[in-house]
Amino acid sequence: MRAATFAIAALTAASAASAANIVITVGGNTTSNASLVFQPQRVTAQVGDTVIFNFTQGNHTATQAVFSEPCIPAHDANITINGFDSGFRDAGNGTAITILSVPILPENVNQTMWFYDYNLCGQGGVGVINDNESSYETLAGFERNAIRLNGTGAHSSSASHSATRTATSATGSSTSHSSSADRAVKVGSIAALPLALAGLALSL
Ligand SMILES: *[C@@H]1O[C@H](CO)[C@@H](O)[C@H](O)[C@H]1NC(C)=O
Ligand SMILES: *[C@@H]1O[C@H](CO)[C@@H](O)[C@H](O)[C@H]1NC(C)=O
Ligand SMILES: *[C@@H]1O[C@H](CO)[C@@H](O)[C@H](O)[C@H]1NC(C)=O
Ligand SMILES: *[C@@H]1O[C@H](CO)[C@@H](O)[C@H](O)[C@H]1NC(C)=O
Ligand SMILES: *[C@@H]1O[C@H](CO)[C@@H](O)[C@H](O)[C@H]1NC(C)=O
Ligand SMILES: *[C@@H]1O[C@H](CO)[C@@H](O)[C@H](O)[C@H]1NC(C)=O
Ligand SMILES: *[C@@H]1O[C@H](CO)[C@@H](O)[C@H](O)[C@H]1NC(C)=O
Ligand SMILES: *[C@@H]1O[C@H](CO)[C@@H](O)[C@H](O)[C@H]1NC(C)=O
Ligand SMILES: *[C@@H]1O[C@H](CO)[C@@H](O)[C@H](O)[C@H]1NC(C)=O
Repeated sequence: MRAATFAIAALTAASAASAANIVITVGGNTTSNASLVFQPQRVTAQVGDTVIFNFTQGNHTATQAVFSEPCIPAHDANITINGFDSGFRDAGNGTAITILSVPILPENVNQTMWFYDYNLCGQGGVGVINDNESSYETLAGFERNAIRLNGTGAHSSSASHSATRTATSATGSSTSHSSSADRAVKVGSIAALPLALAGLALSL
């Protein structure tokens, strides 16, 4: 009896821990539609899942943003968010495929994560993890906003920022990114107002 209970408990734990890898392919044929850089453009992920950006063609980034500023890194828009950022990943013609893994942690359950490709943002090269269907903040709206702003806000300092990160993560290892996502969540959930104010002061 005890053994049976124990087995059931173990099974439950195993299924709770079962996690999906959700792959977003980066670098489709964007000749007619820049949004096709991310396929699919919109994914839903549960806690424990990992969203994997698979850079398969061309030179792109997967960079987290906030809804109101589609083409700049989330951290530059809101200092309390330490969002994911692949830096430039040049996959060539499928010759240098790399991945960026974004684990979905308990702290960001159902949290919407917007993202963009630095090189195609102004043409609509954007996507979303866990958008909220009841919210007025839609993928279509995010994409329109990116196109309207024509990638502006993707200023030179964010370019060098991303380029620097590329240099330190060129192998496509996800370790550093996972830990920065970790930090993002912790910092984000504390959401310290003084920090946000300090960020505003710094950016003036
Ligand atoms: C990409 O798409 C365009 C038009 O949508 C097409 O003309 C072109 O041949 C495609 N390129 C590749 C490599 O598939
Ligand atoms: C571009 O592709 C996206 C994603 O497949 C689609 O939702 C959108 O309608 C397309 N836009 C145009 C102008 O074809
Ligand atoms: C990434 O894409 C390549 C080429 O299509 C494929 O071989 C590889 O399995 C993909 N990686 C993942 C994690 O899906
Ligand atoms: C990738 O794109 C960025 C920005 O457009 C550019 O600075 C960089 O040189 C490109 N990388 C390669 C290898 O072409
Ligand atoms: C890219 O690779 C594909 C398949 O190997 C090939 O058909 C195509 O011509 C290549 N494109 C370029 C621009 O080298
Ligand atoms: C997250 O979303 C799932 C599915 O939509 C829902 O069942 C769950 O209650 C949500 N969790 C929180 C904390 O909002
Ligand atoms: C989704 O958006 C609605 C409307 O803004 C809001 O009431 C709800 O709390 C949001 N859900 C989540 C999980 O953020
Ligand atoms: C959008 O930005 C690109 C690249 O910076 C520029 O070449 C193009 O002229 C801009 N388009 C408009 C309509 O401003
Ligand atoms: C910045 O992000 C934090 C955490 O997500 C949020 O609570 C805060 O409202 C954001 N600040 C602004 C100015 O949007």
